[in-house]
Amino acid sequence: MSYFNVLGFDKEPFSTSPDPDFFYLSHEHETALTKLLIELRLKRGLSVILGDVGTGKTSLSRKLIQELNDREDIVFHIILDPSFDNETLFLTSLIKNFDIRLENLASATIVDLREALERFLFQKGVTENKTVALIIDEAQKLDDNFIEVLRVLLNYETNKFKLLQLVLLGQMELYSKITMINNFFDRISFKYTFNSFDFNETKEMIDFRIRQAGYRASMQLFSDDAIKEIYQYSRGYPRKIIMLCHRALESLVLRKKIVIDGDMIKQLIEDEVKLGWRRNDLLVQKNSY
Ligand SMILES: Nc1ncnc2c1ncn2[C@@H]1O[C@H](COP(=O)(O)OP(=O)(O)OP(=O)(O)O)[C@@H](O)[C@H]1O
Ligand SMILES: [Mg+2]
Repeated sequence: MSYFNVLGFDKEPFSTSPDPDFFYLSHEHETALTKLLIELRLKRGLSVILGDVGTGKTSLSRKLIQELNDREDIVFHIILDPSFDNETLFLTSLIKNFDIRLENLASATIVDLREALERFLFQKGVTENKTVALIIDEAQKLDDNFIEVLRVLLNYETNKFKLLQLVLLGQMELYSKITMINNFFDRISFKYTFNSFDFNETKEMIDFRIRQAGYRASMQLFSDDAIKEIYQYSRGYPRKIIMLCHRALESLVLRKKIVIDGDMIKQLIEDEVKLGWRRNDLLVQKNSY
C-alpha cells in the first residue's frame, strides 16, 4: 500500500506529472488558458507563453489540449521537445503528425515539405473551415532556422485570418531568441509570462491537489505554519511546492503523525541542506515583456 492510500487519498496528490485534473487555475494560469482559447477562436496566429523553470507551462499545455480534444473544428498537434537535428526532420515530423499525405516522403526536398504543409493549411483552413493549431513546448530549444520556418508558415493567411495558429511555451531564454529574429516578435498576438505563486495561491494549490486526490477529512492536513514554510522555501514555484509536499506526506506516514506542521517542513529542508542538495535557483524575472 502506498503512502497516499494510508492517508486516505485515492490518487497521489503531489505527483510531478502534468495531469490536467490536478491543475489548479491560478489567476495567471486561468488568464493564459482563456486568452489562448480566444486567440485560437479568432485565428490570430502567434501566442507566446514564457515562464521560469517549473512555473506550469507544460501543465498549461496539457490543460489546453484537454480543452481542444473535445473540439471537432480544431486540428492540433503538440511538439513536446523541438530539438530536431535539421529542418527536414522538423518538417517531416509536422507532416507525419498532422497526417498529411505526401508521396515519396523519404525523398522529399525541403521545398516539397513546405509546400505540402502550406497546401494542408489551405485545405483545412479554407476548404474545410477548420482551425489548425501547433503547440510547441520547450520552445526555447527551437533552432533559429525552425523559427524562420514557422515565421513563413505564419505569413500564410487569408484576408481575415491566419491559417496556422502557433502556441509557443518556453523558458525565459525564448524571449531573447525571438527578439533576435526579424519580424517574429512583432507578429506575437498574445504574449504572457508566468510568475511564481503568491502565498494564497500556494495554499490554494496545495488544498486543491489534496481534495482532487480524494482527501475528504475536514481537518487541515498542512498547518498554516507548514504552508508558510513551504512558501518561504519554494518562493511559490509550483514544482518546488509539489516536491516538498510529496516529501512531507511521506514523512507524515513514517512518523505516524496526522498533521504536517511547520517544524516538519523545516526539518525536511534542513535535511536537504545537510545532504548538499539545495541549490539557489535563478530568481524569477517578474517582468512581463
Ligand atoms: N497550476 C498548477 N496547479 C497544480 N500543479 C501545478 C500547477 N502549475 C504547475 N504545477 C506542477 O508543478 C510542476 C511543474 O510544472 P510544469 O512541468 O508544468 O512546469 P514547466 O513550466 O513546464 O517547467 P519547465 O520549464 O521545467 O519545463 C508539475 O509537477 C506540475 O504538476
Ligand atoms: Mg515544461
